[in-house]
Amino acid sequence: MTTDDSKRAVARRAADLVTDGMVIGLGTGSTAKHLVDRIGERVRDGLRVRAVPTSERTASQAQSLGIALVSLEECPQLDLAIDGADQVDSRGDLIKGLGGALLREKLVARASREFVVIVHSTKLVPTLGSGCPVPVEAQPDEWERVRDRLIELGASPHLRHEGPEPYVTDNGNMILDADFGALENPGQLELRINEIPGVLDNGIFAGMTDRVLIAEDHGVREWVVPTRSRAESPGG
Ligand code: A5P
Repeated sequence: MTTDDSKRAVARRAADLVTDGMVIGLGTGSTAKHLVDRIGERVRDGLRVRAVPTSERTASQAQSLGIALVSLEECPQLDLAIDGADQVDSRGDLIKGLGGALLREKLVARASREFVVIVHSTKLVPTLGSGCPVPVEAQPDEWERVRDRLIELGASPHLRHEGPEPYVTDNGNMILDADFGALENPGQLELRINEIPGVLDNGIFAGMTDRVLIAEDHGVREWVVPTRSRAESPGG
């Protein structure tokens, strides 16, 4: 099985969690893309859902497949949100946003009764942060001040680029990829980064995950994150 086949398998399993009449959050990334494809197939077969997309990319894919879209303003409470991740630690905390959609992804995950993460097994790590920076979304006119504050917090931040130009998010902001090394306390760091003026949000998702579906070589493994782990997380 190729990695892409595994991502498709895990996404299809997650799509089975969607039932008629639900309002769902649709994630962003190469794994979530398979999810949206599968939900599109199910909609064609008669499933009725309304979906809040976490990026313009996901919105246009969903629209092209006939999935009805709504905004968080219209539907502030979702039944289920499903999204990929860049790293998942042993408590189910995440780093997300390497694909650039973290702000909307976090709003959607927070608004949902259940947040399900779909990943390839290579995304599982004992500790977040090693080999993966924390993406930080910053107001365009504040990014240099945010960079300086991130350095004070112990990070090596770099402004994300797309070719020669700074990368611009769907919300018109900049992203600083902040390498902190291994994160001792992800929940606390999530809060501290968000206290920096000019920061809109960051890619640490602590205490939010309810379930992780993991694509392995020979199938999909399901991990229900114990409520205690979520409650203990300072970010939860
Ligand atoms: C998008 O900004 C990210 O948070 C993605 O959810 C994350 O990067 C996972 O993407 P893949 O499924 O492509 O690995």
